[in-house]
Formats: sequence, structure tokens, C-alpha cells
Amino acid sequence: MKRILVWDVPTRVFHWTLAACFALAWLTSESDVWLSHHVFLGYAMLGLVGFRVVWGFAGGIYARFGSFSFSPRQGLAYLRGVLAGRAARHIGHNPAGSQAIYLLLLLVLLIGVSGVFAMGGEEQHGVAAGWLGFTAGRVFKQLHEASAIFMLLVVAGHVAGVLLESLLHKENLARSMLTGYKLASDGTPASRPYRVVAVLLVALLLGFGVWWFVYTPKQASGVSTPVAFVGPALADNARWRDECGSCHLEFHPSLLPARSWTQLLAQQNQHFGADLGLDGASSAALLAYALENSAEKHATEAAYKIDASIPANVTPLRITQTPYWSKKHREIANADWNLPWIKSRANCGACHQDAQAGTFEDAAMKIPRSAPAAR
Ligand code: HEC
Ligand code: HEC
Repeated sequence: MKRILVWDVPTRVFHWTLAACFALAWLTSESDVWLSHHVFLGYAMLGLVGFRVVWGFAGGIYARFGSFSFSPRQGLAYLRGVLAGRAARHIGHNPAGSQAIYLLLLLVLLIGVSGVFAMGGEEQHGVAAGWLGFTAGRVFKQLHEASAIFMLLVVAGHVAGVLLESLLHKENLARSMLTGYKLASDGTPASRPYRVVAVLLVALLLGFGVWWFVYTPKQASGVSTPVAFVGPALADNARWRDECGSCHLEFHPSLLPARSWTQLLAQQNQHFGADLGLDGASSAALLAYALENSAEKHATEAAYKIDASIPANVTPLRITQTPYWSKKHREIANADWNLPWIKSRANCGACHQDAQAGTFEDAAMKIPRSAPAAR
């Protein structure tokens, strides 16, 4: 027996970066605030799988698909062998492990593609923006989440398999995926390391990261994310900004349905205890603009979801009383609401950099825990 190189460097880099991306993608799926990072990880995983497919034909001998093209039946037979404590040792991938690998590659593809469509539909962002509507986007998001959960189960099975197999053959398989080396009988062919390919792969990943997080043009709204990640600008109106922006933020019309704006403007002389003193013509012009751009027009994800959340027989006069708004903000602590530079729930601009534009991009929200710099 002697130590030989089994896992070439690109295969190991692929394996561990994919594992890291998957773990981080789970962590960043918790909050919309992390969506930009989450999507970056998703694209990176798609790219990694694309590389792995090429490497399955061009890579080191044990990385090639040809070296582990077992049938599902062989995989099951092998599993039975492992459970009975008498499965043959394989230098490369064993039949059961091979099935897990193909399944994981397919799942990353499914999760990645459904994620791109979910984002294109639900957020109207990314490469699939404008290809499908919000409702279809929602279906893709469910597929995205279900396949991610399934992948987590397959990963758990894969890890359990590695542990079992390591015990059975008294060798540390996880370590050989780190070092690349395994003990093999004389005459077993060794793989080449292919270091240059690994360096190129890492350079590509780093370059993508730099492009995504550093070299990204600042948008007009002050949101710093890749271009593809920020949707189109919304309708704007100088009179609206003038008349509705003096006491509080000029709430964008896409944040409430048409019936709410109609009622708010009809009661403009008793506006939350204030008299707006609008003449008939101004009031009509403001209402026309509001109706043209109300939540029902679904200009943004927020507009769509606010609209969908309000029961048809309810006419909310506050954005902060719509079910979607409440749901999205219920985890914010009282201590945060009471910060002197926030104070009111309606002070959207304190936490949403793009509140004036009305876009409420995921990448533009942050609870300011320290006083904002004087402007
Ligand atoms: C004279 C000051 C003033 C002007 C001008 C004004 N508002 Fe208000 N608005 C208020 C006050 C006061 C509140 C209640 C704020 C609170 O409770 O935090 C309010 C609240 C609101 C809310 C509810 C915010 C929430 O809690 O979700 C909306 C919507 C709104 N205003 C729309 C408008 C529109 C549209 C215009 C222009 C036609 C306008 N406001 C002009 C004083 C004003
Ligand atoms: C105290 C800070 C704070 C204030 C004030 C605030 N928000 Fe938010 N908002 C957040 C945070 C944090 C989230 C992200 C919640 C999560 O984890 O998903 C959020 C989420 C949202 C979302 C969901 C975005 C999406 O991805 O769909 C919308 C829409 C939104 N806020 C609108 C508003 C509006 C409109 C106002 C003012 C009436 C407002 N917010 C006031 C902190 C704030």
C-alpha cells in the first residue's frame, strides 16, 4: 500500500466551496436584508456546478464521470453492503456516493434556476426580470424552498454515508477530500493535481465576488448593489413631493391601494389631525397621480404584496396598518423603534435608504443602531 493522489485540487476546491456556499445560502435566506449575498451565493453555486460538469469530462481520472458511472441499482446494492458491514472499498467515488453526487448537482441546478425565476418574478430583478409575473414568481419561490430543503436532506445523507464508510473502512474520507490523498495498493493509478486549473477557478470566484460587492455602480437611490439587482425607477411627481413631503416622507403611491388614496384625499382637511388645505384642482391632480401608480399597479414587490395582503373590504389609511407591512416589521424590537432618530413607524427613510424613490429594495434596508451623521 502507498499514498497516492486521488482528488485533484480543482475537485477539492469545488467540493468545499460548494459546501460553504450552501451553508451560507441557508444562513442568508433568513432575512431579506441578506438577499443580495444570498443571490451571489446562488450564482456562485450555479457557476461551480457548471465547472464540475466540464471537469467531469476533462478532469483528473477520479473526478471524471466515467470513473463513477454506477446505476442506481448498484448504488442500492452498495448501501445494503455498507449496512451489512461488508461493502468493497473504492478508491474513487463508491456507487452510493456517486448517486448522491449526481443528485446534488441536479438539485443545485434546480435550486439555482428556480431561484433566478423566483427573483425575476417576485422581485423583478436579475436576469429573469420581466419574464414572468409576481404570481408565477411565487410558485418558483416555493419550488426553490422545497428543493433547498430536499437538498439539505441529501447533504445529511451524504455526510452520514461518509461517516459510515469511514468507520467501515477505517479511513478518514473527509480528510482525504481535504488533502487529496488515500492509501492504495501498488499499481493503482494516481491523479494529477491540476493546480493551474484550481488557481483559475479560485480567481474566477474571487473576481465575481469583487464585481458583485465592490465594483458595483452606486444607483441614484444610493443603493449599492449590482445593476441587475436593482429594479427600474418608479414614477415621480413634483407636486406630490411638494404637497406630501413637508410633514413626513412623501410616501410613494405604490404603497397603498387606490381606495386608500381616494379616501385620504377626500378627507384631506382632517388628515391625522392636520388640515392639508388643498384646493380642488391640487387635490384632483394628486389623486390622479396616486391612482395611476397605486399598489394595484404592482410596480414593485412591496406594492404587489401590500395589495395582496389587504382584505377587499378594508380601506387602510396607514401603510403601517397593512398586514404585509406589519408582518415584515414585527420582529423589530421596541428598543429600535424608540431610537430618537427613528421615533415613528412611518419614518421609513430612517431604515430604508431608497424610501423616497419608493422602491424599498432588499439591499437598501438597515436599522440604524447609531445616530446618523448630520447632513
Ligand atoms: C401638515 C402636515 C402633513 C402633510 C402636508 C401631509 N401629511 Fe400625511 N400625515 C401627517 C401626520 C401628522 C400623519 C400621522 C403620522 C403618524 O402618526 O406617525 C400623517 C400620516 C400619513 C399617512 C399614514 C402613514 C402611516 O402610518 O402609514 C399617509 C399614507 C399620509 N400621511 C399621506 C399623505 C399624503 C398623500 C399627503 C399629501 C397629499 C400628506 N400625507 C401630507 C401630516 C401631514
Ligand atoms: C426601524 C427601521 C424601519 C422602519 C422605520 C421601516 N422599516 Fe421597512 N423594513 C425594515 C427592515 C429591517 C426590513 C426587513 C425585514 C426582513 O428581515 O425581512 C423591512 C422590510 C420592509 C419591506 C419589505 C421589503 C421586501 O423585501 O419586500 C417593505 C416593503 C418595507 N419595509 C416598507 C417600509 C415602509 C413603507 C416604511 C414606512 C412606512 C418602513 N418600511 C419603515 C426596517 C424598517
